Amino acid sequence: MNDHLALHVLRDGAAPDLPVVLLHGFPIDHRMWLDVAPLLPADRRVLAVDLPGFGASPPGDAWGAASGGAAAEPGLEVMADAVTGTLAAHGVARAVVVGLSMGGYVAMALLDRHPDVVAGLALLDTRSTADDDAARRGRLDMAETVLADGDVAAAMDHRWKVLGRSSRSTRPELAERIGAWIRDQPPAAVAWAQRAMAARPDRTEVLRGYDGPATVLVGAEDEVTPLPQAEHMAHALRDVELVVVPHAGHMPPLEAPAEVAEALARLVRRVTA
Ligand code: MLT
Repeated sequence: MNDHLALHVLRDGAAPDLPVVLLHGFPIDHRMWLDVAPLLPADRRVLAVDLPGFGASPPGDAWGAASGGAAAEPGLEVMADAVTGTLAAHGVARAVVVGLSMGGYVAMALLDRHPDVVAGLALLDTRSTADDDAARRGRLDMAETVLADGDVAAAMDHRWKVLGRSSRSTRPELAERIGAWIRDQPPAAVAWAQRAMAARPDRTEVLRGYDGPATVLVGAEDEVTPLPQAEHMAHALRDVELVVVPHAGHMPPLEAPAEVAEALARLVRRVTA
């Protein structure tokens, strides 16, 4: 079986080394990066994966089963290994790794398990801490509901939650766009990812052990992973720029793509200087 993730070349830059690799949030796919990619430094290759089960990628259950064993338990570690394996299959040994929210959890698991791959790290609207019991319960409940319903309706509120109050009141079309992406995802992917995120450990110490260039970016109006979570990660990192994007919530790549691209361009310059 093909145990690689779908890898989308969003920009084919002249420099084949050190591409920018974009990891999407929950419960959508690589399309959340389409507004940012054209604004990134023109010499860089820009790659975006669909995480297991989302977009065009095989389901999370496929990992483990690929080597003839039982399906792997849902985990960010499985996702991180799948990203690394996919990059290796495309000849990418090192990259500037960028993850938003769930993609940030994957980026931190990747840094934990495959530190040599990470030449630069951008953590957008995410957290390094684990869930409390109530959050974990909520995730497991959603996983059961979408599987029982055979439908992702229970995840649709996310299209509003991820927007800041400014976008919610002035740009409802963004919620429509996100909603259409959510509706495209299989319920099994939503359930698997929720179970994976529920099981994730605190990775603040992993950030403390990283001394490469890093950017932590957060929308000033993010209600899902608010500013104190970003500050907590920034304090753990040694070489970090903390960027707070005004008038954006949990989805700055859609709400403020130019500000996100500028912050990532500064990170790329620090990595390649
Ligand atoms: C996301 O945007 O990826 C989610 O908000 C992550 C989460 O549920 O923790």
